[in-house]
Amino acid sequence: MYFKKGIQMKLIAKKGAPLEQKTACLVLGVFEGKLKEEQLAGVDGLTNGAWSRAVRSKEFGGKAGETLLLHCGAAAKTQRILLVGCGKEAELTLSAVRQFGSDVAKHLAEKQQTSFTLVPLPVKKATVVESLQALAEGVLLADYRYERYLPQDKPGRTALLNNVTLLLAAGEKPAEAEAAIATAEAICAGVCFARDLVNAPGNLKSPEYLAMQAVAMAEQAGIDAKLLDYEELEREGFGAMLGVAQGSERPPYLVVLEYRGGAEDEKPVALVGKGVVFDSGGISLKPAEKMDEMKMDMGGAAAVFGAMLAAAGLKLPLNLVAVVPAVENMPSGTAIRPGDILTSLSGKTIEVLNTDAEGRLILADALTYVGRYEPRTVIDLATLTGACIIALGNQAAAVLGNNDALIRALIKAGEHSGERLWQLPLWDAYAVQIKSDFADVKNTGGRPAGTITAAAFLQTFADQYRWAHLDIAGMAWADSAKAGQPKGGTGYGVRVLVEYLRGLVK
Ligand code: BES
Ligand code: MN
Ligand code: ZN
Repeated sequence: MYFKKGIQMKLIAKKGAPLEQKTACLVLGVFEGKLKEEQLAGVDGLTNGAWSRAVRSKEFGGKAGETLLLHCGAAAKTQRILLVGCGKEAELTLSAVRQFGSDVAKHLAEKQQTSFTLVPLPVKKATVVESLQALAEGVLLADYRYERYLPQDKPGRTALLNNVTLLLAAGEKPAEAEAAIATAEAICAGVCFARDLVNAPGNLKSPEYLAMQAVAMAEQAGIDAKLLDYEELEREGFGAMLGVAQGSERPPYLVVLEYRGGAEDEKPVALVGKGVVFDSGGISLKPAEKMDEMKMDMGGAAAVFGAMLAAAGLKLPLNLVAVVPAVENMPSGTAIRPGDILTSLSGKTIEVLNTDAEGRLILADALTYVGRYEPRTVIDLATLTGACIIALGNQAAAVLGNNDALIRALIKAGEHSGERLWQLPLWDAYAVQIKSDFADVKNTGGRPAGTITAAAFLQTFADQYRWAHLDIAGMAWADSAKAGQPKGGTGYGVRVLVEYLRGLVK
């Protein structure tokens, strides 16, 4: 089996009084300045006064991220109580709740506490369902690891979670809570699938491997899959994509997935993802330092596949099509050279000034190809430019496009899902930088505004439909671990895409 479900834990919701739960650990969020709430007086009763002693000695003040683990007396049904600081109540956001879920899950798993009961935190500006979904996502995402190449019994290995219970207050409806959990599970299955794909090393992850993972996922999720192999790509005229692929021993594939949840005649939303399984730079070779990270250059493809899996899991009543060009960018005697001119699928010619600007070449053909579906909207995701990391760092992806309403909707979905986007301008004036003397366009616009000129290049192939481009170069890979996000692939893009798609059917 190619594709396994990443998360094994049982996550349920039930009603009950927090301090009367039979559980190994009860987790309570505590707001700054609210250390004397009624429930916390009860904690004192169960812990023989340890709670108020800790507060008095200033061991705990409720600041975001603070924790205090107390053991209960033998008579209590609850064995332990974990108090977690949540900062100021008025400032609580969905992102903070998601992070709270991750912090708690990581903290307890490291203490071998794999089963616990959590009292959810309601976000004032969101619904109960949204708050529960964010909390569940936080817990689920903290349980992800990539351990394919590690021994099962690695010493000091953090335990995986077993049973997590979300405790509902009197007015909350269990059916709604279960729906929120199911939504979170579907989304996180997509995120974890994407993370697995990004984390897979380059030797395993040929274009064929990426394609077969997508096909296997599609089969399990009830999505139609089709592959275009080298011969078909050549017959069709994918000249830009094949130009990139020609330096590698490992042949390219175009992956096309179709999910039909909407009406027969409804035009699809199209998702396009950059699938460079390894980007050495080609003849314009990258420096050695951090070249290993270029196995993540298919982060856009991973996000698109993860979003398709989640959309199918959620049974979204929409038609979707995903297009991923999967290639490897390598230097060799057969590789494209700087100065080569390629004829793209659109018929437009491209002067290749830098073989390391390969993402836009393969996307040019993918964006042309997806036009055959007469999509109502096209969103592409790509780890496209280092310049994007210079502009936005690792806090947001850049969004650019030809339709402001679409961009606004994506930014909103990003805010809501915790995957931020920030718009960069795509004024006509930038197109001057990609004018070529020998072809219709050239594939680099020099150093100024590198993220924008890359998008301007894509725009020349995306002029037939409503289109937005997400440059996720700074977001697909995490250099260091934090709760909810181990070092490595992030699965960035799945959550914002799914949130956007869910918004279309609300
Ligand atoms: N995949 C890289 C962009 C990238 C860099 C992603 C660092 C993630 C982290 C892309 O193919 C690339 O090499 N872009 C060049 C474009 C330039 C040659 C115009 C870049 O950004 O330097
Ligand atoms: Mn490159
Ligand atoms: Zn690249």
